Amino acid sequence: MKIVHAASEVYPYVKTGGLADAVGALASTFADRGHAVSVFLPGYRLALEHPATAGAERKLRLKIEMGDRFASSDVFVFSPKKNLTIYLICREEFFDRRGIYGNGERDYEDNDNRYIFFAKAVVETLRLLEFKADIVHAHDWPTGLLPVLLRYAERRHGVTLALKTVYTIHNIAFQGVFSMRSFPRTNLPEELMGIDGLEYYGQMSFMKGGLLFADHVTTVSPQYAKEIQTPDFGCGLDGVVQSRAADLVGLINGIDRSVWDPSIDALLPARYSSEDLAGKAVCRTELIKRMGLTPGFKGPIFGMVARLTEQKGISLLLANRDFFINQTAALIVLGKGDGRFEKALKELADDLPGKVALAMRLDEGMSHLVEAGSDFFVMPSLFEPCGLNQMYSQAYGTVPLVTRVGGLVDTVVDIVDQPSAGTGIMFAPTVEGLQSGLHRALALFANRPAYQAVQRRCMQRDFSWTQAAVGYENLYGDTL
Ligand code: ADP
Ligand code: GLC
Repeated sequence: MKIVHAASEVYPYVKTGGLADAVGALASTFADRGHAVSVFLPGYRLALEHPATAGAERKLRLKIEMGDRFASSDVFVFSPKKNLTIYLICREEFFDRRGIYGNGERDYEDNDNRYIFFAKAVVETLRLLEFKADIVHAHDWPTGLLPVLLRYAERRHGVTLALKTVYTIHNIAFQGVFSMRSFPRTNLPEELMGIDGLEYYGQMSFMKGGLLFADHVTTVSPQYAKEIQTPDFGCGLDGVVQSRAADLVGLINGIDRSVWDPSIDALLPARYSSEDLAGKAVCRTELIKRMGLTPGFKGPIFGMVARLTEQKGISLLLANRDFFINQTAALIVLGKGDGRFEKALKELADDLPGKVALAMRLDEGMSHLVEAGSDFFVMPSLFEPCGLNQMYSQAYGTVPLVTRVGGLVDTVVDIVDQPSAGTGIMFAPTVEGLQSGLHRALALFANRPAYQAVQRRCMQRDFSWTQAAVGYENLYGDTL
């Protein structure tokens, strides 16, 4: 099959979160399975600086209609491996900036134009190359308009650009809602300004475009597929999601074993497997040293790697500060995000030196060390479409503490619910829930044989992409 993916971030070229990991691994998995896979990514400065894109060649020059003006784009292309081609949509005005979505303080004010332009450039490239894709697969709000722009371009030019379109929601909390004044830049017909089109409470929603106009809609776990049809989790789009319920499936992401496997991980000071965990102790010692915990610390280390946002349950963690004050337990947080969370975590670390340590930066190497060197991985998310870190932590023999939401429900088995198959500790997304989870972890850690049995079960779980790939293949096949 000829499969086209379009996304605003793709690992290893540009990443701010799990979206990049998921799209990168999905594309690579399908290439390995013999499909011809093309991936479109904006040519951000960061992507062009990545060593892997150095050999990219200019393939096309586009003229993109943006309302009543035209904007040009250079399309650079390279192939990182067999069956995989990466297209970088370049335009300095939009993508030659330090950030991806914003400057760290706030989102760029022209994100509407940037991603309208990107989606149109994907469509125009497919048209000029007479590509005839089997599947065009768009991800999250930045490419939400792609399915609808593609169909209107087909109508306008009397061509077929793709047999079917698929739209995947990785996070419904980010919808790409902009003023209706952005609408004319889409050059879509005015009828789409209404409630049956892109209109969302008087504004325009990119995600609604993907939801309404793709042939199939997917999200990244079965549990989240159910949740987003409810007002509690649908973030205002639950009604629209319900209207597509017949075409909606939840497919859990896998993890990329070439990047996340403790037995081959070159980013760790030592490697290990479920048969021999000695290397994990080396990682723990290194983590203690690098993060400045008390040397020789014996209690459990709770690790966390996350965007510091409301979603990730930072407020639940902060409300449990007494646990770390009163118990022999350490906390390590690697993350960047909302200023108020950064500040509160910093205060906690200042109050508890040697016990609570922070690294407020994006640091790929450190994320592997936290996964490997911690004893427990904390993920008290208020909602979690899929979540990758709880899968990484299981692969690394680090027992996850997770809330009973979204993909966490589909990927962690609670040790009380299933004593002989449990791999983690689950609780309600509340302050008390996390508190009970932390105490359960402490008790488990004190019982060495029980803790090690859970570790081994964690490491033996199969989180490969094969299952998801078969799911997507069925869907793609279904759609043809
Ligand atoms: P989300 O996409 O909602 O942020 P996921 O669990 O799906 O959550 O994926 C998060 C990804 O981002 C993981 O690969 C995680 O390791 C990575 N990550 C988050 N924060 C950092 C950080 N500060 N440094 C390095 N990697 C990070
Ligand atoms: C989003 C979600 C996360 C998911 C990732 C990849 O960023 O927040 O739960 O794992 O996308 O699908």
